[in-house]
Amino acid sequence: MSEQRVKISGVGGYLPARRVSNDELAQTLDTSDEWIVSHTGIRARHIMAADESGTDMAEQAARAALARAGVSPADLGLIVVATTTADYGGFPSNACLLQARLGAPAAAAFDLGAACTGFVYALEVARGLMLCGSGRPALVVGAEAMSRLVDWTDRNTCVLFGDGAGAAVLEVTTEPDRGILGSYLRADGTGSGFLWAGGGLRVPPPNPEPRQAHMQGRPVFNFAVKAMAEVVLHFLETLQIAPEEVRYVVPHQANIRILQAAQKRLPIAPDRFVVTIDEVANTSAASIPLALAELDRQGRLAPGDVVLTTGFGAGLTYGGNAIRW
Ligand SMILES: CC(C)(COP(=O)(O)OP(=O)(O)OC[C@H]1O[C@@H](n2cnc3c(N)ncnc32)[C@H](O)[C@@H]1OP(=O)(O)O)[C@@H](O)C(=O)NCCC(=O)NCCS
Repeated sequence: MSEQRVKISGVGGYLPARRVSNDELAQTLDTSDEWIVSHTGIRARHIMAADESGTDMAEQAARAALARAGVSPADLGLIVVATTTADYGGFPSNACLLQARLGAPAAAAFDLGAACTGFVYALEVARGLMLCGSGRPALVVGAEAMSRLVDWTDRNTCVLFGDGAGAAVLEVTTEPDRGILGSYLRADGTGSGFLWAGGGLRVPPPNPEPRQAHMQGRPVFNFAVKAMAEVVLHFLETLQIAPEEVRYVVPHQANIRILQAAQKRLPIAPDRFVVTIDEVANTSAASIPLALAELDRQGRLAPGDVVLTTGFGAGLTYGGNAIRW
């Protein structure tokens, strides 16, 4: 019998309608288009409307991915939403809210928190559950409301982030040479202080911390370059993939200079690295599935393509997935 694998059968993405340029930010913040572009590669980000939520964005991306895969919500056995900006501070999870919206009564539903590496982690968690579970399709979403978490007076962080959601539908397959070939999931909790968001239950009432992101940019930058390269090298070595076989590296979109520095450490040509950061900024767990959805929308993904994802984020977490599309 052929080996069972899990393939991605559809992807979809959603960006809020409102596009905010660097110049618009510079109207209220001591920054400039020149600084942001030269230090990050970001030209614009999309920001949710006041009446929009992370679950609203997740629903749009999920519906697009389900339609692309030709899978009905009723058939789903699992919904995992990677997010660290859920609608509710505690519970219910965005995944449960999404399950109700879609009408997926057979699906287990939970959120997964691995920050910007969340989608990479969620893909592997879903794959594992599918291969030892019911065999039903799964929905994996990365959705982040970063604009609600950043301090809009802190130029060190707020210019870097944007809102959005990306989704993938996963199905079990016995097609040879297709599906997720492997994943690599890692964390280094000793770096937890470099990137964190308050507002949890660590500090008791009556003076809880504000729910805001804090970052030390330099150490995160240095960690990210090493981590993203390590992930790709791991796949080349352990899966015996030749560099020229790699059709796309889909990195977490945090900073163009991080991508370029990681690329220089790898034997893979620069044009294989997918770059979307200029228009979307850092959308955290949504960044990799949004980039996959954009590739698909442009008709650039073909069956058999080798796609390597590689990401990093708060935790610090990092990891990637090797996929034969
Ligand atoms: C944040 C980051 C863009 C800063 O770039 P950098 O090259 O390290 O910045 P530098 O240290 O050269 O410059 C910092 C200076 O720029 C200033 N600065 C920071 N943000 C600015 C902005 N938006 N506009 C203008 N100036 C800014 C700082 O105040 C500082 O000024 P000072 O030297 O007078 O104190 C970069 O470190 C980075 O991308 N780090 C990783 C962040 C990341 O990926 N986070 C998400 C992880 S998922």
